Amino acid sequence: MSPYSVTRTLPVHATAADLRTDVLQGLGRTPKSLPPKWFYDAHGSDLFEQITVLPEYYPTRAEREILRARADEIAHVTRARTLVELGSGSSEKTRILLDALPELHTYLPVDVSESALTSAADGLLAERPALTVHALIADFTRGLTLPGTPGPRLLAFLGGTLGNLLPEERAVFLKSLRALLRPGDALLLGTDLVKDESTLVAAYDDAAGVTAAFNKNVLSVLNRELDADFDPADFAHVACWDAEHEWIEMRLRARSALTVKIRELGLAVAFEEGEELRTEVSAKFRRDGVREELASAAMELKHWWTDREGRFALSLSVPD
Ligand code: AVJ
Repeated sequence: MSPYSVTRTLPVHATAADLRTDVLQGLGRTPKSLPPKWFYDAHGSDLFEQITVLPEYYPTRAEREILRARADEIAHVTRARTLVELGSGSSEKTRILLDALPELHTYLPVDVSESALTSAADGLLAERPALTVHALIADFTRGLTLPGTPGPRLLAFLGGTLGNLLPEERAVFLKSLRALLRPGDALLLGTDLVKDESTLVAAYDDAAGVTAAFNKNVLSVLNRELDADFDPADFAHVACWDAEHEWIEMRLRARSALTVKIRELGLAVAFEEGEELRTEVSAKFRRDGVREELASAAMELKHWWTDREGRFALSLSVPD
């Protein structure tokens, strides 16, 4: 069998249909909102890569520091033979794990983007010719079934992306992850932590304006995919800390009253001056909260590792 195979569980047209539904729902109500997954077209993914090296955006560096410090321990504790990575994107951090897992047989990256999967697999296969790479094109927020792979399995969900889901969505999602775990398997979860407001806001409103461009890119996605006529210059990038929910919100604020046509949907959407469209929630966590959310999904938190500055956490959990 070839060491590289791809399985598509996502119908080819599912993405377009989902976008239409999300835009109809999200722009049709007050307050307006869109799910953050629509940031990530090729340009948006490139902008996100630029964000990860900004001086203000600490999560990527903090998580890499923890992975480097703990990869051997993770390997020792899990003895994983299959690594499943959800939302693998560019699998740069994954390499640290792969290098520490000598017994690894199969790497199973899961992503909605086929191009991201293929380019990541190319690099890995060149370095680890004995590794079986089985890429899965799937939307992991819609429930997953995994191909049979050797256990124990380590399921990795890194980057703090769990925080992009609302609490009720997280509860459903964590249960769906739990359903993938058998005895002996484990979940490795990256979560950004609650910290002072100025550090958090700066991470989502950088001086160079990359995050602003990333935020506004969603408007270009709607222009292209739905034949809309947003002018990104009509909107201001807003990042604010919601202390009650302990999450960062990114919004796009209309600089004046305006109406946008979304021709594919036969829709005209009016914005009042100053009206905001919420484009992302990025929740920040505390250890107890993570432990409780995992426990509600029938998982037990076994290890909690942070970077030296205590900004970000990696946790390892097992089915209970
Ligand atoms: C990769 C989804 C975790 O929420 O911090 C970066 C995305 N948004 N800057 C995050 C993001 C604005 C990022 N995640």
